[in-house]
Amino acid sequence: MITTVQQHILQQQKNFPDATGTFSWLLSGVTLAAKMIEAKIRSAGLSDILGAYGQTNVQGEQQQKLDVYANRAMEHCLGLRDSVAALVSEEDDEPVVFNRDGETGKYIIVFDPLDGSSNIDVNVNVGTIFSVFRRPQWGDVNTSVLQQGIKQVAAGYVLYGPSTILVYTTGHGVHGFTLDQTIGAFLLSWENMRMPDSGPYYSVNEANLEESAPEYTQFVHDMRAGKIGEKHGSRYIGSLVADFHRTLLKGGIFFYPPTTKVPHGKLRLMYEANPLAFIAEQAGGMATNGVDRILDIKPEAIHQRTPLAIGSKVEVEALRSALAK
Ligand code: AHG
Ligand code: MN
Ligand code: MN
Ligand code: MN
Repeated sequence: MITTVQQHILQQQKNFPDATGTFSWLLSGVTLAAKMIEAKIRSAGLSDILGAYGQTNVQGEQQQKLDVYANRAMEHCLGLRDSVAALVSEEDDEPVVFNRDGETGKYIIVFDPLDGSSNIDVNVNVGTIFSVFRRPQWGDVNTSVLQQGIKQVAAGYVLYGPSTILVYTTGHGVHGFTLDQTIGAFLLSWENMRMPDSGPYYSVNEANLEESAPEYTQFVHDMRAGKIGEKHGSRYIGSLVADFHRTLLKGGIFFYPPTTKVPHGKLRLMYEANPLAFIAEQAGGMATNGVDRILDIKPEAIHQRTPLAIGSKVEVEALRSALAK
C-alpha cells in the first residue's frame, strides 16, 4: 500500500481543525521545489550549477550557484500558494512579504534552501530545511516572522543523498518519505520515527574544539572513554541535515558550540536549529543551546545564530550538565 506525503498530510489534517487542505497545498510547494532542486543536484556535473555564484549573502558567505537556484525554487513554488503571507530565507536579507490579507495568507515559511553548501561541489549530501508558523491574526507580517520555535505548526527537511528523503512533523510524530523517481512522488517509508535514548556517535567539528570552552573537549573525551552511554565513535559530514538525520536514526549527539570565531554559534536559530529541534523533540530527543531549550528561545533577528546541541536525551543532558558545572 503506498502513501504519498499529500495523502499522509491529509490524514494528519484531522489534527489541523482550521486547515481545510490549505496546509497540504502549502507543503506541496516544498515537495515541488525539492524535486526541482533534486533534479539539478542529480546532474550537477553536467549543468552549470556547481561552484560559486559570485555574490556574498547576508551571512557573509560566498553564495553557491545551487544556493541561489534552491532559493529561487523555494520562493517560486511557495510564493504561488495563496496561504503564504511571508517567506524568510537564509539567502534573503529581509522577509519576502506577499500582499495577502489575514484570511488568505495564513502561514509564514522560514527556510534554509540549501544546507551544507560546502559539500555541493564534492557530491556529498546536502539538504533543505523548512519551518512553518501561523501568521498571527493581528500585527505587521514583518515583525510576526519572529516567533519562538514552540509556535511552529510544522517543520521538516529534505536530504539529497543516495536517495532523496523528506522528513516532517506537524506536532504529531515524525514521518519520513522517499522520493520514488519513477512516479515523482514522496512515498511513506518511516512512520512515527523515534530517536534512540542514546547512540554510538558524537558529531562535532573537532578542528574548532580548542576555540570553545574546555568543557566541550572534556565532553568529547568522556564520550570516547565510554563514560556517557557506550564508547562513542565520531561522524561529521559537515551538512547539518545529514548529521542530524543520522542522529535521528542511530542516536547520539550533534553539536556546534560557540567558538572564538562564532561566539554565538554558527548555526541559525530560525531555519536550522528550530525546525530540527521540533523534529528531535517529536521523536523523543532534545535540543538546547547548552543552557536553554532551543524551542523556548525568543528570536530577535531572522538570521540570529545560536549554539546547538541536538540528539539523544542521554548525551544532550550530559552535555548540558557538564556546561552547568
Ligand atoms: P549552510 O550551507 O546552509 O550555510 O549551512 C552550513 C552549516 C551546516 O550545514 C553544517 O553543520 C555547518 O555549516 C558546518 O560548519 P563547519 O564547516 O564550520 O563545520
Ligand atoms: Mn544550513
Ligand atoms: Mn544554506
Ligand atoms: Mn549558507
